Amino acid sequence: MSLSASTFSFTALLILLLLPKSYSSKTIESNSSLPQVDVDLLEFPLNLEYLEAEFFLYGAYGYGLNKIAPNLTKGGPTPIGAKRGKMDNFIRDVIKQFALQEVGHLRAIQSTVKGFPRPLLNLSAESFAKVVDSAFEKQLVPSFDPYSSGVNFLLASYLIPYVGLTGYVGASPKLQDPKSKRLVAGLLGVESGQDAVIRALLYEHAHKKVKPYGITVAEFTNRFSQLRNKLGNAGVKDEGLVVVESEGAEGLITGNVLVGDKYSVAFDRTPEEILRIVYGSGDEHKPGGFYPKGADGHIAKSHLPKA
Ligand SMILES: *[C@@H]1O[C@H](CO)[C@@H](O)[C@H](O)[C@H]1NC(C)=O
Ligand SMILES: *[C@@H]1O[C@H](CO)[C@@H](O)[C@H](O)[C@H]1NC(C)=O
Repeated sequence: MSLSASTFSFTALLILLLLPKSYSSKTIESNSSLPQVDVDLLEFPLNLEYLEAEFFLYGAYGYGLNKIAPNLTKGGPTPIGAKRGKMDNFIRDVIKQFALQEVGHLRAIQSTVKGFPRPLLNLSAESFAKVVDSAFEKQLVPSFDPYSSGVNFLLASYLIPYVGLTGYVGASPKLQDPKSKRLVAGLLGVESGQDAVIRALLYEHAHKKVKPYGITVAEFTNRFSQLRNKLGNAGVKDEGLVVVESEGAEGLITGNVLVGDKYSVAFDRTPEEILRIVYGSGDEHKPGGFYPKGADGHIAKSHLPKA
């Protein structure tokens, strides 16, 4: 056999090996030329944005996407147990703004990638109470109800945008297309802003006791953060409002109105860490918590048992 023939077949083999790969790195969506890795990483946070939108909409307005923007649900089921929360006018005004911002985020993501229908969300008081009880490793009496007061709603909200924020930080170095990076930076900016507002409102009352538990606001946040660190199972990426001095900015302060690593740079989380947290199971293969049937999209579904 001549050298050129074997070079030819080697080249043909190379082309065969490389072709499907370069094809599979492109999406077949007609309205999107984004690489598949970007599509997956942009679709994943829809799970969290649906949850945030519904929790804030119901909490502030008493109704959700079904009424405000039904198309954005893409026909997904109505959330379980969400309702209008008790809160003063100032907090309600802030939560209304967050709610509508989340509607905007859903629009932004869905106009960039195809997305998927709203997953089933369990936003019942019991669902939050379960998280709170596991954070305290005992049953609080009466059980925690996010809808019963402004401070309770803010404490429950402490659980939400921060998880999205760490996910956006985690996604950013994996994204390829500048359009995806721009979108994620923009979403990250507003999620961090929401987290900062929630934390600042709580920080003002950090040493006050939450009725009727006799537990301070700071202690609630520290417990929630510890729980997320435990469930995420990837080290310390979450901190409450008051920390030991060595964990504060520059190791010099105990107040911790914003979270950051030793350089005060935001922590990152992978989709798997996020699923372990929002499922409440510590296992990305075991749905539950706020997502009784699991999250949607390629990344989340790849960890679920095949239907
Ligand atoms: C919602 O979807 C319906 C049916 O597909 C469509 O006719 C309508 O224009 C959409 N509304 C908005 C606000 O996008
Ligand atoms: C919602 O969560 C609560 C608390 O875990 C649970 O008791 C209830 O069965 C859940 N509802 C659904 C439909 O999963």
